[in-house]
Amino acid sequence: MNFADGITITTLVENYIDILIPNTERIKRPGLAFHFDPRNKPIQAENGISMLVDISFAGQNYRILFDAGLSDSVILHNMSALKISPDIIDHAVISHGHPDHYGGLLAVLKARSVPLPVIIHPNAFLTRYVVAGNGWVIPYYNQSLRKEELEAAGGRLVLAANPVQMGPAAFTTGEIPLKTPFEPPGPPSGTPSSLRCLKNGKFEEDETADDLALIVCLKDKGLVVVAGCAHAGIINTIRQAQAVTGVEKVHAIFGGFHLGFPGIPEEKSDKTIKELKRLRPAIVSPMHCSGFKTLVAVAREMPEAFLLNTAGAQITL
Ligand SMILES: [Fe+2]
Ligand SMILES: [Fe+2]
Repeated sequence: MNFADGITITTLVENYIDILIPNTERIKRPGLAFHFDPRNKPIQAENGISMLVDISFAGQNYRILFDAGLSDSVILHNMSALKISPDIIDHAVISHGHPDHYGGLLAVLKARSVPLPVIIHPNAFLTRYVVAGNGWVIPYYNQSLRKEELEAAGGRLVLAANPVQMGPAAFTTGEIPLKTPFEPPGPPSGTPSSLRCLKNGKFEEDETADDLALIVCLKDKGLVVVAGCAHAGIINTIRQAQAVTGVEKVHAIFGGFHLGFPGIPEEKSDKTIKELKRLRPAIVSPMHCSGFKTLVAVAREMPEAFLLNTAGAQITL
C-alpha cells in the first residue's frame, strides 16, 4: 500500500459560499479582498459538488477530479477564476448518475486538449425519474449523461462496480455494502422515496447502487474519504473505505452526507454523528446535501473536527 505524502483539496463547486469567513491554517478561501478586486472573477456556488484532489507522492503530483457540479458553466467558471487549467487533471471519478454530480463533466472534457479517464458505475446510466408525492413525474432526468457523447468529447470511461485504484494511494470504494443498521437499503425511514428508475418497462425503486466515493491514504494520518451524496450512508461509505484499503484510521471526511433530504428524521443525523465521533477523525466536513441541521450538529458535537467547506476553498492535509 502506497501512502500520499500530502493532499491538497480544492472545492470547485459547493452549495455554499461566504466571503467573510476568515482563513485558517487548514483552509484558505477567496475572501472579500479577492471578490472585490475587479481583476478577479467572483467564485460561484450552486447546488452540487466538485473537488479537485491533488495528491503529492515521491515529489510528483497526481490530480483527481471528483464529481463535476450541476451546471456546465459553474465548474469551468470557478476553475478559470482560480486559475486551474482543466488539462492538469489526471483522472476523474463521477460518484453517481445524478445531475448535481456529473453536470459539468462534458464541459470539462470539451475544455481539455487531451482525453481523460473517468471512473463511473454502470448503473449511473439507468433511465431515471423523480415521482412527486402527487404522482407528477419529472421525466428521465439523467438523459444528459450519455456514454457516446462523453467518449466523443475525450472521456475514456472506466465502467466499474468494484473498487479501482488510480495513481498512487487513491481508490474508488466501488459499490458500497449497506451494513450499518441505521443506513439500510431503500428510502430512509420516514421519507416517501421519490427516486425511480425504469426496470423491465416499469418504474421501480431506485436504490442508487451506483453511489461510490473516493479514498486517499495519507502518510502518518490515515484515510481521507470524499463522498458525493452518500446515498449509501456516510458510515457505510467509511466502512467500505476501510475494507478496500485495510487502513482503519480515518483522518478526514468530506462530502454530502445525504441527511438534508426533506423528511429524514433528525435521529438518523444523531446516530451518524455518534458513529463519526467514535472514529475520531481530525476533520469532518459535511457539504452539499448534508443539510443545515447536520452542519450545525457536527459543529456543536465535534467542534475541533468540523470544517465548513465553501466554493473556491483550498484545504491542505
Ligand atoms: Fe444524488
Ligand atoms: Fe447530490
